[in-house]
Amino acid sequence: MNAGSMLKALQDPMGVPFYPLVFQVLLVFTFALHIIFVNLVIGGVFISIYSYFRSGDYYKNLSKAFARASTINLSLLIVLGVAPLLFMQVIYDPFWYTSNVLSAAWMLGIVFALMAAFSFSYVFYLKLNKDKKHIGTWGIAAFLLIILVGITMHAVSYQALFPEQWVKWYVNGSKVDLSGTILHAFELPRFLHFVVASFAITGIFMMLYSWYFKDRDDMDKSYLAWVGRAGAKMAVIFTVLQMVVGVWWLFSVPSDFQFYKNPVFIAAGVLAVLLLFVLIEAQSNPQKYTLPAAALAFMSVLGMTSAREALRVLYTGRYDYSVYNYKLNLSYGSTALFAVTFIMGIIVIGYMLTVVFKMGRSSKPVDLSSLKLRTWSVYLMIAWILMMVGIGIAIAS
Ligand code: HEM
Repeated sequence: MNAGSMLKALQDPMGVPFYPLVFQVLLVFTFALHIIFVNLVIGGVFISIYSYFRSGDYYKNLSKAFARASTINLSLLIVLGVAPLLFMQVIYDPFWYTSNVLSAAWMLGIVFALMAAFSFSYVFYLKLNKDKKHIGTWGIAAFLLIILVGITMHAVSYQALFPEQWVKWYVNGSKVDLSGTILHAFELPRFLHFVVASFAITGIFMMLYSWYFKDRDDMDKSYLAWVGRAGAKMAVIFTVLQMVVGVWWLFSVPSDFQFYKNPVFIAAGVLAVLLLFVLIEAQSNPQKYTLPAAALAFMSVLGMTSAREALRVLYTGRYDYSVYNYKLNLSYGSTALFAVTFIMGIIVIGYMLTVVFKMGRSSKPVDLSSLKLRTWSVYLMIAWILMMVGIGIAIAS
C-alpha cells in the first residue's frame, strides 16, 4: 500500500460535517491567535526574567507587569490551542493522530509540563510581588518548560508531514517501538521562526502597554515612555531577524515546491515588510504608531499562518491528499449549532473585553451602564442555555 492510499484509509469514514474549506479557514485563523499568545508567553516570560536580573525601578516594574501578564497569556495560549486542535483533527486526522501516537509520551508529557510551567510562572509572579530575593529560578524553570512544549508541538506538527517515514520511525529492524518516547523530526529554521517572532510580538505588546496606560494619572509617564521605546526597539530588531530566519526557512523548504512564487507567501512577505516600515517610523514616537504596528503585526501573523497552511497543502499534496476531496457528509444541524455558539461566544467575549479595556484605562470608576453589549450578552447567554437544554431534552427523550 502506498502512502496516498494509506492516508485515504486512515480518514474518518463518516466524512466531514461541513465544507472542508470552512474548517481550513478556521484552522488558520485560530492557529494565528494561538501562536500570537505563544509568542507573548515566550517573550513575556523572558522579559520578566531579564528585567528581574536588571537593577532600577523601571526594570522592577516591568518584571512585575510582565510576570503577571504572562500567567494570563499562558492560560489564553492553552485555551486558544484547543480550537486549531479540533479543526486539525477534522481535516488532517490521518496526519495528526499518527504523528501524536508516534510521540505519544511527549504529547502526554506536555500536559504535565504545562501544569508545572503555569505553577512556576505563578510562583515567580507572587514572590516577585512580595519582593522576595533569589526567585529567578522559578521564572527560568517556567521558561524552559514552555520552550520544551514548543519543541514538542513543532516536532509533532512537522513529522506529520512525512507519512512515507512513519513506518521507518516505529519499526527498527525487526523491533517495533511502541514507546512513543522519540521526537522524530525537527526543522530548526521553522522552529526559530516561531521563537524569534516572540520577541517582535512582545515588543509590540510593550508598545501597546505604554499606549494603553498613557492616560492613567496613577502611572509614571516617563516609565511608560521608556517601556514604549524599549518595545519599539525590540520589535524592529527582531522583525529584521525574523525576516532573516524566514528566508532561511524558505531555503529549507523542498525546492520543487517553488514556494517563493507562492502568492500566499508573497502576500505575507509584503505585510511583514510594511510592518517593518511602520516599526522604523515608530522609533521616534512609539505611542503614535502603536495601533498601526499592532494591526499590521496581526495581519502579518495571519499572513504567515496562511503561508504555513499553503506549505502544508503542498507537503500533503505529494501523497495526493487534499482536504477538499474529503468525503462530505453534510450536517446542517451541528454546523448551525456551532455557528450560533461561535457568534454568541464572540459577542459575550467582546463584552467582557470591552469592560476590561474601559476599566483598566482609567484609575477612576467607569460608568458602563450605557454599554449595549451588556444587555445583548445576557439575553444571548440565556437563549443559548435554553437552546442547549432543549436540544438535550429532545435527544434524550
Ligand atoms: C507553552 C505551550 C505551547 C507552545 C510554546 C506551543 C507552540 C506551538 C508551536 C511553535 C507550534 C507550531 C509548530 C510548527 O508548525 O512547526 C504549535 C502548533 C500547534 N499547537 Fe501549540 N504550543 C503550546 C501549547 C499548545 C496547547 C496546550 C495546545 C492544545 C490545547 C496546542 C495546540 C497546537 C496545535 C493544534 C498546533 C498545530 C496547528 C497546525 O498545525 O495548524 N498548543 N504550537
